[in-house]
Amino acid sequence: MRRTILFFALFLVVESAEFFPNERDALLQLRDSVNSSVVDLHSHWTGPPCYYNQSKWAGISCSDGHVNQLVLEGIQLTGSLPPTFLLHITYLTKISFRNNLFYGPVPNLTGLIDLEFVFLSDNRFSGLIPFGYVELKKLTDLELQGNELEGSIPPFNQQSLIGFNVSSNKLEGPIPETPVLKRFSKSSYENNANLCGEVVGIPCSISPASPPKAPSEKKKNGLKVWSIALIAAAVTVLVLVSIMFIFFRYFRRSKRKGTQGEDKQGNISIENVVKRSYWSKSTEDPEKTLDLIFFEKDMSVFDMDDLLRASAEVLGKGKLSTTYKAILESGSVVAVKRLKEMNSLSKKEFTQQIQLLGKLKHENLVEMMSFYYSKDEKLIVYEYVPQGDLFELLHGSGIGRQPLNWTARISIIKDVAKGLNFLHQSLQSQKVPHGNIRSKNVLIQQDQNKNYHSKLTDYGFFPLLPSKESLRKLAVGKSPEFSQGKKLTRKADIYCFGILLLEVITGKIPGELFSPENGVTSYVDDDLSEWVRTVVNNDWSTDILDMEILAQKEGYDEMLKLTQLALQCTDEAPEKRPKMSEVLRRIEEIELEPKNLVTDVEDDSIS
Ligand SMILES: *[C@@H]1O[C@H](CO)[C@@H](O)[C@H](O)[C@H]1NC(C)=O
Ligand SMILES: *[C@@H]1O[C@H](CO)[C@@H](O)[C@H](O)[C@H]1NC(C)=O
Ligand SMILES: *[C@@H]1O[C@H](CO)[C@@H](O)[C@H](O)[C@H]1NC(C)=O
Ligand SMILES: *[C@@H]1O[C@H](CO)[C@@H](O)[C@H](O)[C@H]1NC(C)=O
Repeated sequence: MRRTILFFALFLVVESAEFFPNERDALLQLRDSVNSSVVDLHSHWTGPPCYYNQSKWAGISCSDGHVNQLVLEGIQLTGSLPPTFLLHITYLTKISFRNNLFYGPVPNLTGLIDLEFVFLSDNRFSGLIPFGYVELKKLTDLELQGNELEGSIPPFNQQSLIGFNVSSNKLEGPIPETPVLKRFSKSSYENNANLCGEVVGIPCSISPASPPKAPSEKKKNGLKVWSIALIAAAVTVLVLVSIMFIFFRYFRRSKRKGTQGEDKQGNISIENVVKRSYWSKSTEDPEKTLDLIFFEKDMSVFDMDDLLRASAEVLGKGKLSTTYKAILESGSVVAVKRLKEMNSLSKKEFTQQIQLLGKLKHENLVEMMSFYYSKDEKLIVYEYVPQGDLFELLHGSGIGRQPLNWTARISIIKDVAKGLNFLHQSLQSQKVPHGNIRSKNVLIQQDQNKNYHSKLTDYGFFPLLPSKESLRKLAVGKSPEFSQGKKLTRKADIYCFGILLLEVITGKIPGELFSPENGVTSYVDDDLSEWVRTVVNNDWSTDILDMEILAQKEGYDEMLKLTQLALQCTDEAPEKRPKMSEVLRRIEEIELEPKNLVTDVEDDSIS
């Protein structure tokens, strides 16, 4: 019963959601009438465009839940703009479609009184410059150059206007002699069909209403050879800069997160990374293992020397290890994890644990292939999973990113639960079988049907870490029992899994606290309990949901149940958290349930 009431409350909240459907509809109109070979807006613009001051939509910026900037530059957008689509985006301050392939009339901007920047240059817009542009009181910069606009220039006279360019169009007639338009030099006007006026140095005839159709000789005469060269050079530079800009924007996210190799220096090899210790060992200590130890014979198709010659690229840097992508000369690719903090371990301790882990085979675990041990160099070679990690998928931004819908999220979560359940079943003797569940350790694979699958990595290091200090660096180091100085059990893994669930549901980064009131972001360093309280806030509303899944109302039942499960998993008291086998069972039940049915089968209230 209580559940039904919760649902009712949930839907009420949605009706008064903080995004503005008119603005969203306007953008969807745009999305559905244009195409780009560079960005697929169709799959990118889903969910609400704004969440407070943030947006995950490419090209959109927001302020207080309203769209205030629309900037889609240089991405080969083609199509004609839907008429008057912008009228409902009333808080717009900037619109830029620079350097695309739009055709048809320029947009009607009537009523957009906050507009300051209008950049429509370098497209194929045609027709007249709307008279309504004269009424934009805050207009600061208007760029229309490089289109096919016709007719005359309206009498712009806004004091705010400090940038203005209508060059390289098909405009004609006298340039209005308003004080503001007189501010701009010839280069704002030149290369048009037949403009006249003082600034372009062409006197207007007595009857300017019907200017003669004489083709423009003046404009060509005015351009000396060197200036053509100069313009060509400038345009080339501009194009190069825009290409670099797009490139930068596209890759910035992955660079920042360090997944594409922060210190990737072209040709580093694994040998550069481990050489010193490897070779010094080999000379002074011939007894030691000098080669990789494989868990299965048929996998040992390469040896340590092959690995050392492989070219390497940093995939990720963690507190306990650095992972490299290594491309062997044979062409095969593996991931090599170089462990830190484990140098006090004896060979026996290390080998025993790694041998145990190496025997584990499961479709939701990243497979260990081999390892290398020396006193001060420990490497583990894993299968390489190319498509990045869950952290990237959830929190990335920028034009290259695709939003992650609910079906994909639940499929990823189920795979993680299966992998973790397998670890808990197979490593009965171990206190904390995984120890490091976090979104960066969930690697993603997409099959041919674009369905997402995931595999866990970084498992089984708990027994290898010598001190409390180094254990703190594992995900289980953020559990309440760890910060209270208690012994960790497998329920610490359940806690981390609960945090992962909340991260997938809310789209928030664990430990990162964002206050919508003042827009300040802070971080929780140790125990994540405060973060859990803040994101879930102990009250049910769709406010907690990641904006990317907010629009998927048919998933609300599942989202609610998964949140309940997450809260049980993150209970402060380890004994109250469910076992992994039960967690998996419940996730499978949630996934199998018919969608969009408000049921009150079980009354597992939260609080
Ligand atoms: C966009 O692409 C779709 C599918 O290729 C096509 O049907 C549509 O006409 C295109 N629209 C424009 C504006 O080019
Ligand atoms: C622009 O839109 C406004 C408001 O809908 C309308 O009154 C006006 O006629 C339109 N202008 C043009 C040129 O279509
Ligand atoms: C106007 O645009 C043209 C073409 O891009 C450019 O060459 C010129 O320098 C611009 N003038 C001003 C004042 O921005
Ligand atoms: C959003 O940004 C505006 C302007 O920077 C600021 O005044 C406002 O408080 C911010 N709102 C939120 C919810 O962060």
